[in-house]
Amino acid sequence: MAITREVREISSDVYWVGVRDWDRKFFDKLVPLPEGTTYNAYLVQGEDKTALVDTVNPGFEKELEEKIRQVTDPEGLDYLIMNHAEPDHANGLSHMVSLAGDAEILATKKGKDMALSLYDLPEEKFHVVEGGDTLDLGDKILEFIEAPWLHWPETMFTYYREEGVLFPSDFFGAHVATPKLYADEFGEDVLKRAKDYFGEIMMPFRPRAKRALDKLEEYEVNTIAPSHGVIYRNPEKILEAHRSWTGAELDEKVLIPYVSMWGSTAEMVHVLRETIASEVDAVPFEVSSQNLNNLAGELVDSAGVVFGTPTVLAGPHPQIIYTATLAKKLNPPTKYFGIVESHGWAGGAVRELSKLVEGTSGELLGAVDVKGSPEEGDLERVIELGEEIAEKVK
Ligand SMILES: Cc1cc2nc3c(=O)[nH]c(=O)nc-3n(C[C@H](O)[C@H](O)[C@H](O)COP(=O)(O)O)c2cc1C
Ligand SMILES: [Fe+2]
Ligand SMILES: [Fe+2]
Repeated sequence: MAITREVREISSDVYWVGVRDWDRKFFDKLVPLPEGTTYNAYLVQGEDKTALVDTVNPGFEKELEEKIRQVTDPEGLDYLIMNHAEPDHANGLSHMVSLAGDAEILATKKGKDMALSLYDLPEEKFHVVEGGDTLDLGDKILEFIEAPWLHWPETMFTYYREEGVLFPSDFFGAHVATPKLYADEFGEDVLKRAKDYFGEIMMPFRPRAKRALDKLEEYEVNTIAPSHGVIYRNPEKILEAHRSWTGAELDEKVLIPYVSMWGSTAEMVHVLRETIASEVDAVPFEVSSQNLNNLAGELVDSAGVVFGTPTVLAGPHPQIIYTATLAKKLNPPTKYFGIVESHGWAGGAVRELSKLVEGTSGELLGAVDVKGSPEEGDLERVIELGEEIAEKVK
């Protein structure tokens, strides 16, 4: 495990004491992390009191402790702020409590209940806070902002008033381990990481995310310091991106998640892509070889989605069942759907996939089912579907 011991002051008396998990390969046993991730924790040192905002993933407690020690005695910490109860940010609380015997844990009511069910922590250590409550560190005020369901029911933000630093926990996060601390050092690509992350973690709660963004309008936010990824010291771009990802406007784009065993479905996807691409963006996504995190990101703003699948054992290919099920659960704003399918005998994929799509708020425009490899007439139907969906998403 890489121990860098790097500590950085990100605002006056606010220190990044987070850790980088270069080697993490998956999150939630669901999305691949080709670039690892970070667990950001922050120390806010006031004249009288010191608070730690969030902790780290299991296995990194010692690294966190060593980093805090560079700034102050962890034994003397007064407050442990738990914005979110998930283990990647809260599991380290037990270690911190074992060091800082007098520290209070500040969390929402739900946060307290969840933490007690997940970790071996003494109940009397908890102090429940609500949105609008403040914590006086002497010369600094921390305010708690209610932000439930981003992405668990207990989540909240912490806001350092004097400097306008927002600690939003997982919100505004991105999975990337990088020596760059700030988004402006990392470059524009950060928005792509943040979008994939938003798609996978926050999109299912889009109305909640929108509400939180509206609420933040009341605050002067100069710095956004999330619990994963880089810190935004000029947060306008990331705020604007989140406003657009939670807004009603979608891209003129059709995403085509597909899989093909012997090439028939792939041939239809090729024709579909060319048809759509002559009008609007077409993004083919071969699901067996691509990172599902990127699919989540593409779903954030695609107005149309066409699934491509062969029939396998009387239903969609299992990779497409998985992808379509996940896509549906992510609650994307997709307006129009389509299906292209190839079968050897009785088919069945279209029926099952249609049922899945019908459970979303989008409209299924049509399905092209083909026996074996597509012939001229089949490809004409594919072109018709492509033209229709391109027209609709425009
Ligand atoms: C493992 C396997 C299971 C299949 N199960 C079915 C099926 O239940 N019903 C059917 O009509 N065709 C079935 N097929 C035939 C394929 O759907 C057909 O070959 C199709 O054209 C393949 O499309 P692709 O070239 O895009 O992979 C199956 C094929 C394979 C390899
Ligand atoms: Fe989380
Ligand atoms: Fe997290």
